[in-house]
Parts: sequence; structure tokens; C-alpha cells
Amino acid sequence: KYEKIWLIFGIGCLFVFLTVLGVSAFAKGNQPPSCLTTIDPEKVDQTPPFNKPGLVKTGNNEYQLNMVASAFAYTPAQVEIPKGAKVTINITTKDVIHGFEVVGTNINMMVEPGYVNSFTKTFDKTGEYTILCNEYCGAGHHMMTARIKVV
Ligand code: CUA
Repeated sequence: KYEKIWLIFGIGCLFVFLTVLGVSAFAKGNQPPSCLTTIDPEKVDQTPPFNKPGLVKTGNNEYQLNMVASAFAYTPAQVEIPKGAKVTINITTKDVIHGFEVVGTNINMMVEPGYVNSFTKTFDKTGEYTILCNEYCGAGHHMMTARIKVV
């Protein structure tokens, strides 16, 4: 008799877990960062769009933010985004693995040499966001930050 109760309990737990996972993936928009394309890390400066890092308007209220990470900074170090803009962040690195976390949001990417990682997000609140490197990348790791201003 008890086996039956535990079996129901187990299946119940599994169901709750899958529901939570499903809600978090689809309703809240949590998504694993995806590798879009490969890039030669030694030629980042010559490869569009990373030869001109920054914010580019791609449509009505849609933007691309192309950023380059290198020890121990991001380029650009500061960017202004209009409130309500849907921004696709593309990031790559010129040297080692870095992190790209936007504090207080669900943006958290790993930046690997040779790859471009992307994340799309709509910024609908004004304010300042800090970008942090959360992968240890060397002596200046703790100073590696940038800033997004939503205006
Ligand atoms: Cu870049 Cu830690």
C-alpha cells in the first residue's frame, strides 16, 4: 500500500519539476545562450560587426549591440539604450574566456574565443545596468565591467 503512495508522490514531484522548468523556459524567457557563428579571435578588429563595436539600429525599436571582450574590459565600456528597445547583444572575445552577466537581468553568457554568443532582451525599464565578467580571466578580472544605461 505504501509503495503506491510513494509512487504517486514521486510522479507528482516530477510533474511539479517539469511544470516549473516549462514555465521558467517559456513564460519568463530564460534561454541558454546560443552560439551563432565562429570567428577568428585574432581578427576580431577586422571582422564586421566587431570592427565597429556599439549599438546599431536594425529596425523599428530593434537594435543590435555588438561588443568585444578582452582582458580586462568590454568595448564599448558604456552604452545608452532607448527604453523599450529590443536589443540583440552579440559578444565575442579577442583573448581568453570571459563572462557577460548583466546584473539584475536574466542575461548571463559565457564569452569564448572563436565564437559569437547572442542574447535578445527588451529593456523596458529605465536605469543603469552593470555588466560583469563572471569567468576568471586573469589579474584584472575583478575590474572587468561595463555599463548599460536605459534612457
Ligand atoms: Cu574577463 Cu573575468
